[in-house]
Amino acid sequence: MSQEDRQRWNSKYQQSSAQRGPSGFLRSLEDRLPRTGRALDLAGGPGHDACWLAQRGLDVTLVDISDVALAQAEMHARDAGVSLTCLRLDLEADALPPGPFDLVVCLNYLWRPLFAAVPRLLAPGGLFVFAQPTRSNLQRHPHPSARFLLEEGELPGLLQGLQSLSFTEGWTDAGRHEARVLAQKLQQAP
Ligand SMILES: C[S@@+](CC[C@H](N)C(=O)[O-])C[C@H]1O[C@@H](n2cnc3c(N)ncnc32)[C@H](O)[C@@H]1O
Repeated sequence: MSQEDRQRWNSKYQQSSAQRGPSGFLRSLEDRLPRTGRALDLAGGPGHDACWLAQRGLDVTLVDISDVALAQAEMHARDAGVSLTCLRLDLEADALPPGPFDLVVCLNYLWRPLFAAVPRLLAPGGLFVFAQPTRSNLQRHPHPSARFLLEEGELPGLLQGLQSLSFTEGWTDAGRHEARVLAQKLQQAP
């Protein structure tokens, strides 16, 4: 399956290497996100969010299964005058990079077992940013297909060892139905 995923995402990214800006959700959090320390972008694709975080001062590691996405992320980082650590990883099978990270971001990628690993990746007080379309998104968009979508109201129950600082679910300005969360690892957590 992962090999299929790699090929599927490689061919998708081969069709376009255009750089775009960071996610609107991430930008909306800019006053709450750290500007120093280490960040991890899980399934970060071609690096638009990772480059933005690096430009703000973070030392960013991006992991993704697609070699093409990683090559594009490195190119976009060079264009932006920042450097990223880009790692080819299958998040469904491989070991995660060692923490602690001050920020972990996972946008538009859903692998439910990953939620159990997030507290171990984060430093005490570290932040987790996650967004993913929900099943209602199918009312307006055929993709992502149902197997990649959250159920309505599911996201808060997936968080483990983290305190939710903000949770929203609904139609975004971009016309997608998304669940979004900003959560924090408690200072005294193991
Ligand atoms: C919808 S894109 C999201 C990319 C980026 N986070 C964004 O929001 O634009 C999903 C990403 O997940 C990556 N991906 C899919 N399966 C993966 C896996 N098993 N391990 C790591 N990355 C994976 C794909 O290569 C792709 O870059």
